[in-house]
Amino acid sequence: MKVSVAAAAAALLLLLLSAADASELKLGYYAKTCRGWENVVKDHVAKAVRANRASGAALVRLIFHDCFVRGCDASVLLDPTPANPHTEKTAPINIGLAAFEVIDDIKAALEERCPGTVSCSDIVVLAARDASSILSNGHVHFDPPAGRLDGKVSRAADAQRDLPDSTFTIAELIRNFRSKNFTVEELVILSGAHAVGVGHCSSFRARLTSPPSQIVPAYRNLLTGRCAEGPDPVVPNNVRDEDPRAVAAAFPSFLKKLRRSGDFLDNSYYHNNLARIVTFNSDWQLLTEKEALGHVKEYAENGTLWDEDFSEALVKLSKLPMPPRSKGEIRSHCRVVNGHHHHH
Ligand code: HEM
Ligand SMILES: *[C@@H]1O[C@H](CO)[C@@H](O)[C@H](O)[C@H]1NC(C)=O
Ligand SMILES: *[C@@H]1O[C@H](CO)[C@@H](O)[C@H](O)[C@H]1NC(C)=O
Repeated sequence: MKVSVAAAAAALLLLLLSAADASELKLGYYAKTCRGWENVVKDHVAKAVRANRASGAALVRLIFHDCFVRGCDASVLLDPTPANPHTEKTAPINIGLAAFEVIDDIKAALEERCPGTVSCSDIVVLAARDASSILSNGHVHFDPPAGRLDGKVSRAADAQRDLPDSTFTIAELIRNFRSKNFTVEELVILSGAHAVGVGHCSSFRARLTSPPSQIVPAYRNLLTGRCAEGPDPVVPNNVRDEDPRAVAAAFPSFLKKLRRSGDFLDNSYYHNNLARIVTFNSDWQLLTEKEALGHVKEYAENGTLWDEDFSEALVKLSKLPMPPRSKGEIRSHCRVVNGHHHHH
């Protein structure tokens, strides 16, 4: 008798604990403890994007690279230390990750307003929300729940293992997304983020010798020229943001499609992809599988649908949890776990 009561109590406790786990995130989480925190984030992101539009794309990438590794726990923000020299941000797969100082500025403003209250992981999520809203002129919009904690573990090997590589085949991409409970459709939806931002030539080097069935030769020539400009320069992910002089020389038929202001977040990625003018192998691979190709066409045809589905997919991304039983905290500085000295 005693045993079964104890067992029932234990089962109930477990149930309550896991229920508490699952319902931790909610809308209005900081309504009482840090009213107006959303405006602080939005004002800082707007200012950062006005000063440098590239920081918007960096913030959109940051949520992906944080949440796919140990869940959304700001583990990607931790700087290496003598005790932990190989944090996630040192991983090769995280090449080019940026906008850390935008997160630092937001955190500093929030610490002043409501000390020890808002997690770095919630800041990463909301900053990505605001960046994607600004870069899309408000077409991408969503309201992510808050209440995440900041993790204490950050390992480069985890980032290498969990993040997809630009050389992946479609089968590898699907498997990678599936391991985080994301569908083929969501793989296609989220890849549309490559409408903005830049990539290093080292991230698509093999594409410079890919056959015309995989990349338009004029675009390949354009990339080859740009990549000869330095040891490992960056080029725009979206051909419409390319340097007009380079386009005039290598790819004149595309000149009329260039845009004056770069980094606009829309469904142009799908048009470029179908036309075989995208940089990464992982982008082109979406055309090689029936279901993925169907979605590429669907989103090329309907930009409004993409805006909506991308918003939803980012909310789902923002809910990826930390591994079971991990310890969390509200960091005071986003680059360092609490209780360690912070050097500037
Ligand atoms: C599907 C698998 C994906 C692969 C293989 C991939 C790969 C890459 C690579 C190689 C770069 C360039 C890095 C560099 O060389 O500097 C990049 C940039 C970028 N990625 Fe992805 N990515 C993927 C999915 C995503 C997702 C899901 C998002 C966000 C929702 C995203 C957002 C971005 C953005 C915005 C940039 C530009 C960053 C900047 O300009 O600072 N990517 N990605
Ligand atoms: C994916 O879903 C399964 C089954 O619901 C769950 O056990 C697993 O933890 C989920 N994975 C992630 C990364 O959320
Ligand atoms: C595009 O998608 C939107 C949003 O789901 C939908 O309301 C609209 O009917 C679609 N347009 C076309 C032409 O299918």
